[in-house]
Amino acid sequence: MIPSLLRPYCAEAAALVDPTAEVDGVVPTNNAAHGDYQWNFAFRMAKTRRENPRAMAEKLAPSFAGKPGIRAVSVAGPGFINLTLDEAWLAAQLATITASPSTGIEDEGRGRTVIVDFSSPNVAKRMHVGHMRSTHIGDVIVRLHRASGWSVIGDNHIGDWGTPFGKLVVAWDEWRDEVAYAADAVGELERLYVKFGDETDGERAKTDPEFAARAATLGDRARAETAKLQRGDARNRALWADFKARSMAEYEGVYARMGVRFDEVLGESAYAALVDPIVEAMLASGQAEASEGAVVIRDGNQVAVVRKKDGAATYTATDLACVRYRVDRWNPARMVYVTDVRQAQHFANFFSIAKKWNVAAEMAHVGFGMLKLPEGAMSTRAGNVIRLVDLLDEAVARARALVDEKSSSLPEAERAAVADAIGVGSVRYQDLVQSPATDVSFDWKRMLAMDGNSAPYLLYSRARARSILRKAEIVPGTLRLEHPLERELALTCLRFPEAVSAATRNYAPNILAEHVYRTCEAFNRFYYELPVLQGGDAAASRLALVSAADVVMARGLSHLGLVPLERM
Ligand code: ARG
Repeated sequence: MIPSLLRPYCAEAAALVDPTAEVDGVVPTNNAAHGDYQWNFAFRMAKTRRENPRAMAEKLAPSFAGKPGIRAVSVAGPGFINLTLDEAWLAAQLATITASPSTGIEDEGRGRTVIVDFSSPNVAKRMHVGHMRSTHIGDVIVRLHRASGWSVIGDNHIGDWGTPFGKLVVAWDEWRDEVAYAADAVGELERLYVKFGDETDGERAKTDPEFAARAATLGDRARAETAKLQRGDARNRALWADFKARSMAEYEGVYARMGVRFDEVLGESAYAALVDPIVEAMLASGQAEASEGAVVIRDGNQVAVVRKKDGAATYTATDLACVRYRVDRWNPARMVYVTDVRQAQHFANFFSIAKKWNVAAEMAHVGFGMLKLPEGAMSTRAGNVIRLVDLLDEAVARARALVDEKSSSLPEAERAAVADAIGVGSVRYQDLVQSPATDVSFDWKRMLAMDGNSAPYLLYSRARARSILRKAEIVPGTLRLEHPLERELALTCLRFPEAVSAATRNYAPNILAEHVYRTCEAFNRFYYELPVLQGGDAAASRLALVSAADVVMARGLSHLGLVPLERM
């Protein structure tokens, strides 16, 4: 937003050197003492033209002087142009963005479609904490693109096809407990899946020939059931459909609590019929080749299997079929896949193959690091898998204790909703606050802390602004930025669109999280130092600033998928 407003000035100045030059925009200065924004064009240009950068900067700087919004311009260091913005102009821009539905976010994605492939659990298994980061990060990538004018398709690419279902059918026939299935379908399916694994355990088979024979039979049966399912066998289809429907019903409950929705839930099964023709076509064109009974694609020194020896489709083949489908249906400009970073190699191979198919869309894999649970942090019921619902329940219970302690004035009825927003929001925010690639260590104390870069702190800061606005007996007036803390808060708010743009471009929710945190800090510093309602002549202007900060904080929280609270 500010860089865009200053762009014409930059273009005008750049033209003094070279009217055809590619103009770079301004960037924030690292140090406020050097002004608000810095323009590095002269430095870059002089280098390529083998001229003196400092002299070039001095030649270009005067072009900015006196332009609307510019209070001061200076040349620094080896040839940087530093710009200090005018307070009245900043105040006017802030009023403009806070009155606009987009909060000044530019519609960089207008007319373009992005597909965000995220969450994507494998059905018949419980959602556990491992699915959480994909869901949280993917959801924010969706929100950021929407805010930036993209048409967004959020797609939950669930694992609902292939060999696990053959195993489940056999396990169902052998060991099912229908009472347990009626009470907790996914729990029972998970038990059956684990049971199948135990009964076919390779280690045990090595030393126990009788067991090995039984295991081999079970394995053969499972493969036969998978093949039957894939051929459309009615009974297996019906079982598969029921397993899937029960799983989805449970997941939907979790997604609703997390505040996440999808535009499509096209699982792997949606592409099953597309895979074989694609593999055949690649064989015919020579892109794929037969290798020891399987079909593979060689790409550089990477080999991707697209059809197994037994004819089954692979993960890569399904992703290739899926990309075809997406291109045909939506013609996306961008496709983003959010998974565990350990799948990085798969995506690198798959993107490279897709490029050779002339898929023009930009394709990005957002690989996230692990969520590390401290020993004994939570009770683990089924093995060491922590169920997502249990985690959310515990977070809400802890938040409720916090609310009961700190916000005893809140009416009983409101406390549950507030605890829900804080609890679920804290779990979410912990996944977002660090860059996706970083491992996160789970830490209840830090997550629920009222200070520091935590969800409660952000929610509390915004609720504080609401409380000031509620108590005010005057109306907000014209904003005047007279005190450095007022100026700092206004400028931070104005940089909100830049933060959204950078977070979107880099698939990095943490960039926005960091900015919202800084905004809250600037707001609290301002509020701590300067009286608002008791501010005398300055009261109406300061109230306008509180109101602007309120809008920016609330929008920032929403784009992160947190629920802004009126009070807490
Ligand atoms: N179901 C997969 C898993 O649990 C993730 C799918 C990611 N999306 C994709 N198009 N490959 O690992």
